[in-house]
Amino acid sequence: MQEFDPHVLDEKPIPPPEEFSKKAHVKSLEEYRELYAEAKADPEAYWAEQGKLIEWAEAPKKTLEWNPPHAKWFVGGKLNVSYNCLDRHLEKNGNKPALMWEAEDGSTLQLTYAELFERVCKFANVLQGLGVKAGDCVAIYMPMIPEIAVALLASARIGAVHSVVFGGFSATALADRIADCKAKILVTADGSFRRGKMLALKDTADAALEKCPTVQKSIVVQRTKQEVKWKEGRDLWWHELEEMAEKECIALPFDAEHPLYILYTSGTTGKPKGVLHTSAGYLVQCTWSTRLVFDMKDDDVYWCTADIGWVTGHSYVIYGPLSNGASIVMYEGAPDFPRKDRFWEIIDRYKVSIFYSSATAIRAFMAWGMEWITPHDISSLRLLGTVGEPINPAAWKWYFEAIGKNRCPIVDTWWQTETGSIMISVLPGATPAKPGSATLPLPGIAARVVNMKGESVAPGETGYLIIERPWPSMLRTIYGDDERYAKEYWTRIPGVYFAGDAAQCDKDGYIWVLGRVDDVIKVAGHRLSSMEIESVLVSHPAVAEAAVVARPDEIKGEAIVCFVALRTGFEPSKELRDTLMDHVANMIGSIARPADVRFTPLLPKTRSGKIMRRLLRELATKGAVSGDTTTLEDMAVIERLVKAQTDDEE
Ligand code: WTA
Repeated sequence: MQEFDPHVLDEKPIPPPEEFSKKAHVKSLEEYRELYAEAKADPEAYWAEQGKLIEWAEAPKKTLEWNPPHAKWFVGGKLNVSYNCLDRHLEKNGNKPALMWEAEDGSTLQLTYAELFERVCKFANVLQGLGVKAGDCVAIYMPMIPEIAVALLASARIGAVHSVVFGGFSATALADRIADCKAKILVTADGSFRRGKMLALKDTADAALEKCPTVQKSIVVQRTKQEVKWKEGRDLWWHELEEMAEKECIALPFDAEHPLYILYTSGTTGKPKGVLHTSAGYLVQCTWSTRLVFDMKDDDVYWCTADIGWVTGHSYVIYGPLSNGASIVMYEGAPDFPRKDRFWEIIDRYKVSIFYSSATAIRAFMAWGMEWITPHDISSLRLLGTVGEPINPAAWKWYFEAIGKNRCPIVDTWWQTETGSIMISVLPGATPAKPGSATLPLPGIAARVVNMKGESVAPGETGYLIIERPWPSMLRTIYGDDERYAKEYWTRIPGVYFAGDAAQCDKDGYIWVLGRVDDVIKVAGHRLSSMEIESVLVSHPAVAEAAVVARPDEIKGEAIVCFVALRTGFEPSKELRDTLMDHVANMIGSIARPADVRFTPLLPKTRSGKIMRRLLRELATKGAVSGDTTTLEDMAVIERLVKAQTDDEE
């Protein structure tokens, strides 16, 4: 296993603020331990009970059917996910704000539950009118505008399977994903705003659609009003369709295991994985974890800053909060536009009480400084959260003091696209926090840190994070590839779920997640695959071979470093370096733009021809190359490292 920076394992626990605990859903560590023990003694009974958090059209007959590695949860139950997020709140909360949206230019839109319900019903009718049936796939490639929430819920309402592709991905990446899920419809926008600039989203979508014969219609939200090319017969304006649509759309019940969405994520090969989530188990666990981890109450104003293009946006912008009937804030743009205080301004304006963001954002705020925060009244905050990567204790403490004013608990939530919802986290009224640790598994979650034989490692030893038992919101498979699903998650350590993270467990049972053990790179919390970037690099005519690794980055967590061997006839140059960086950004998206490209005559390999990534990682991290040359000429460095690694292996 690669080496990880050991975390500060001797941090003193910080007890939950007393005032907070008094009113919390779970009030003490003892209460948490009781819940955990109860769930452990009879997991199915525990989850059957949590199943009551949602409304069923038909009650489930059996809680779990487990034919490893395939699970079915709430078997025989029937429900409608959009009904649970909308209809069931109408009687009591029809006039409560569901969505409070702020555009980058400062304009706002508020939708009550009744209004959101109506827009979802109309758009569900639009989709049905275009021939979308239960089980069909709807691809969504949109900015952070209210219509993206409507599109997700409308798909769910009619049993269509949505597949959201993050708006920052390139045409090629979008096309690959649409082709894999065979979407019939694409929902997109003319453009999007980013730091005051207009981005031509439809142009990118159109380029992707050239390669996507399954897509019959493209529904386009008019957001920027920029000029767009129009393909008659395929392209349709959202507002025109919505205007003509009927208001009524009955939420028909679907099977508990009916697919809800496919979300592509990066894995250990160049090909992204279509993580498949189904309806009931996913919704139950999102609803339950939102309530427990964010201690959600009726009068909370909740803001999760994630983009809906990622799993956090699915589970904790849309499904979890709306199923709980919460008021959510959604913001279209960048945190530093027009100034670096935009987030604090928003918190003040909407009186946000729960704020959930990424470790990268927190580190950026810390670097920008207090002068952006002090002028704003952020005293409405009562709970803070972080997700996506390990948060270093220094950033944690800054978050606690500067934003939380020492009175807001921080929930450091560990989970993955595959797990569907939060698995390991502080319970804010119960768990004493240790800065840098996601702390303890939630009730019902059998998380452990083990060696390759599946044996628990001793406190302070690094091992692999695994989950021993199935959980309701787990992925059901990789879309179209059961074999890869079984192999990647359930056979590395036989019989248990292999998360792909290295971790340590301390003497109090606290889990410290250290980072990935596979080729996944986390840049600003965005999940990318080194293999995917490598295959893009070698698709360039100048490149013979490429190896991609991560080096630590103070703000973004990790940054991408590419080692490239050129084909005969090509010489290293600054221009070629820039070209290759552009090539990666164009083929995948600007989030994948390398921080560095280094030329090397050859890549260090083992005798069997495997690229020695660990060695390159070390080289990228410690920057053992002299001068500011872009060429990795110092072969002595490689030789030394190769020797060190070979000695290590023998
Ligand atoms: C990492 C994001 C440490 C981890 C919801 C995991 C974390 C991967 C944390 C999943 C955390 C997420 N502490 N590491 N609190 N949360 N990670 O699929 O490496 O984008 O495997 O899901 O992010 O990333 P994904």
